[in-house]
Amino acid sequence: MLDRSNELAAWDRDHFFHPSTHMGTHARGESPNRVIAGGEGVYITDTNGKSSLDAFAGLYCVNVGYGRQKIADAIANQAKDLAYYHAYVGHGTEASIRLAKMIIDRAPEGMSRVYFGLSGSDANETNIKLIWYYNNVLGRPEKKKIISRWRGYHGSGVMTGSLTGLELFHNAFDLPRAPILHTEAPYYFRREDRSMSEEQFSQHCADKLEEMILAEGPDTVAAFIGEPILGTGGIVPPPAGYWEKIQAVLKKYDVLLVADEVVTGFGRLGTMFGSDHYGMKPDLITIAKGLTSAYAPLSGVIVSDRVWKVLVDGSDKLGSLGHGWTYSAHPICAAAGIANLELIDEMDLVKNAGEVGAYFRQGLETAVGGHKHVGEVRGDGLMAAVEFVDDKDDRVFFDAAQKIGPQVATALAERGVTGRAMPQGDILGFAPPLCLTREEADIVIEKTADAVKAVFANS
Ligand SMILES: Cc1ncc(COP(=O)(O)O)c(C=O)c1O
Repeated sequence: MLDRSNELAAWDRDHFFHPSTHMGTHARGESPNRVIAGGEGVYITDTNGKSSLDAFAGLYCVNVGYGRQKIADAIANQAKDLAYYHAYVGHGTEASIRLAKMIIDRAPEGMSRVYFGLSGSDANETNIKLIWYYNNVLGRPEKKKIISRWRGYHGSGVMTGSLTGLELFHNAFDLPRAPILHTEAPYYFRREDRSMSEEQFSQHCADKLEEMILAEGPDTVAAFIGEPILGTGGIVPPPAGYWEKIQAVLKKYDVLLVADEVVTGFGRLGTMFGSDHYGMKPDLITIAKGLTSAYAPLSGVIVSDRVWKVLVDGSDKLGSLGHGWTYSAHPICAAAGIANLELIDEMDLVKNAGEVGAYFRQGLETAVGGHKHVGEVRGDGLMAAVEFVDDKDDRVFFDAAQKIGPQVATALAERGVTGRAMPQGDILGFAPPLCLTREEADIVIEKTADAVKAVFANS
């Protein structure tokens, strides 16, 4: 029988330009490629028949788990009934309208409308345009700068890649572009002054933000964007008091808050939204991944009443909004979103994320927290990270060239569990599907302890 896997593997090396991949080692066959063929619950299977427990839910997006018939049926039925119609000039489909209502029903207080896109990146691109438009309508053409944070992740387009605060996404791309600025990452473990308490460090971050706003001129600063908990930048929960102190500064200078909830929206922290979890009162919210659990690509910007009113004034003055994608509110994706949100409720996944998340993080702490090369085990809800250090007492980090994080992730993969080596620092990240059971959490914990032991066997 033809070995499809090898043939596919060869075509893959020859023709497929992979995102976020070392192009040379992949094309030359020096790094592994893996062809995924199926999934069920928290497990994925490749074309060699090897199955793994996916403790990162793809890219923290397959929140309901793999193989859910209900969503597959919803997609198939929508494709048969009406595969596509656009959403321009007031057109809609039953699926997109129903989904918008379901999102607002679940959103934090004060939210009004949903603008649909396809990816987290394009939704943040929409945010930037809405923020600029908002200030133009209000007659403040100078108020356009957007402050993001080092280690934030908001996408990889030209503007959204600029919002992102990670070196890999800037280097050699001539990013970041104006008018995007970056302020201090809320990363307590990596704070410069180790004598600071969490509250003091939060105050320090708020002071830094205020200094930046004053230095730039408050009349030029339009918005601040942040993930409720840093994701790709290292899975770092905010230090105590952080969002309260940051929001006080934003309010003082009339700066909009964008909560990028692409990862945290729809249950990952044990609450429907991370904003509710941390007491954030955003003006705009970015959603994507968990909205459809990645069964189809769909994102959105949830617009608050406050911003919506100004946008409406804008079209009364300026005419129709000059912003749209062909696939905005695509009905097949919207049908997937409806079935996915229903499934989250039916399976009680928000509660499960909170409960199993706490169990999982505690188990990880017990299993590896005392290891001499584990600097910190942290997380919230069903997001967790293990950060490795060369010297624990003096908090000395490993040289990046040693690739400790990737080594642990590889050792873990060899043991049948998929975690993620986060791109900046030696950090092993976890964000499993929200349907994870305690038994499955135990497997991840045990294999992680094994992998850590194996990588540091000689040190
Ligand atoms: C917080 C956050 N915002 C935005 C994005 C970009 O989403 P996408 O990859 O769908 O463009 C991501 C992707 O991981 C993300 O984690």
